[in-house]
Amino acid sequence: MRAVTISGAGPSGKLSISSLNHPNAGQSDVVITVAAAGVNRADLLQRAGYYPPPANAPDWPGLEISGTVKRVGLGVSRWRVGDRVVALLEGGGYAEEVVVRETQVLPVPDGMDLVDAAALPEAACTVWSNLVDVGGLRAGEWALVHGGSGGIGTTAIQVAKALGAHVVTTAGGPERAARCAELGADVVVDHRRQDFVEEALRATDGRGVDVVLDLLGGGALGDNVRSLARGGRLVVIGMQQGRRGELDLSALLARRGTITGTLLRSRPPEEKARIVADTEQNLWPLFASGQVRPVIHARIPFSEAQSAHDLLESGEAFGKVLLVP
Ligand SMILES: NC(=O)c1ccc[n+]([C@@H]2O[C@H](COP(=O)([O-])OP(=O)(O)OC[C@H]3O[C@@H](n4cnc5c(N)ncnc54)[C@H](OP(=O)(O)O)[C@@H]3O)[C@@H](O)[C@H]2O)c1
Repeated sequence: MRAVTISGAGPSGKLSISSLNHPNAGQSDVVITVAAAGVNRADLLQRAGYYPPPANAPDWPGLEISGTVKRVGLGVSRWRVGDRVVALLEGGGYAEEVVVRETQVLPVPDGMDLVDAAALPEAACTVWSNLVDVGGLRAGEWALVHGGSGGIGTTAIQVAKALGAHVVTTAGGPERAARCAELGADVVVDHRRQDFVEEALRATDGRGVDVVLDLLGGGALGDNVRSLARGGRLVVIGMQQGRRGELDLSALLARRGTITGTLLRSRPPEEKARIVADTEQNLWPLFASGQVRPVIHARIPFSEAQSAHDLLESGEAFGKVLLVP
């Protein structure tokens, strides 16, 4: 089969098409013929040599795919050959076929295009597990979603609104801000010219937000805590403004605040299975009803994988970038 592989740590020019053996299904595995693979920031980091795949994962990138079940292991009961599915992977999604544990496979939501569905697994599982499960966002509360224009952010805005919460989000520039508002955000902060702490406090009459979904990391640590309400939860999922930050702990204590950080990829299989099952139970009805939709910026062929990475790296994409075999 064809796959997009990495020939050594470096720029997008290190991506190329290779010919690899077809994967085999173990007892509890499903082999899927790939219709599309989502491109994620983690793939860019892996390619650059900063985010090696976990042990036993394929060494070519790709954390999520959509496709059609080709073969199932003897112990698999839920899936049948021909089912339209999506899957959350530890790696190896940039290929014509993948093999994955059955517990990391979900059905394509009713009515959704098979290729577009490749945008769901990472964003949906990340948003569910961080904004709702860990962050505890409830109806009527306020969420601050950083990077509202990204793959995670476009999903997080829609999910938070669908659950009855209010949303402040950040975006870079007026055009991107307008598109975040169209997705349902109540307040959009153009972070190039506005201060998100001020705007989050203004939106909540000075109270602060209940949950921050943060992808900025170190550089925004203090400001994120200053945006929190009493009992507020800061959930860090990315470090786009660095790994280290400075925090005046009195701001955290005064708010009885909580700071949590999580990674999805390296979690043990049983934790991933629980997240996938909870995401299906709670978010899949929202996708099936069209209340939450994947936002796709581009579908790019495997043969142009370099430009897919360049596009995501440029920061110009709004929503998800997909690779198609
Ligand atoms: N921990 C986990 O389990 C997990 C899982 C999935 C993803 N992630 C992380 O979550 C983050 C978002 O992923 P994604 O797929 O949504 O990426 P993405 O599609 O590239 O979106 C990131 C967005 O962040 C905004 N941004 C980038 N740098 C910024 C900065 N310095 N200040 C303010 N905004 C900035 C950009 O929008 P504007 O230019 O419009 O602001 C961009 O659209 C990544 O860091 C990724 O690694 C973590």
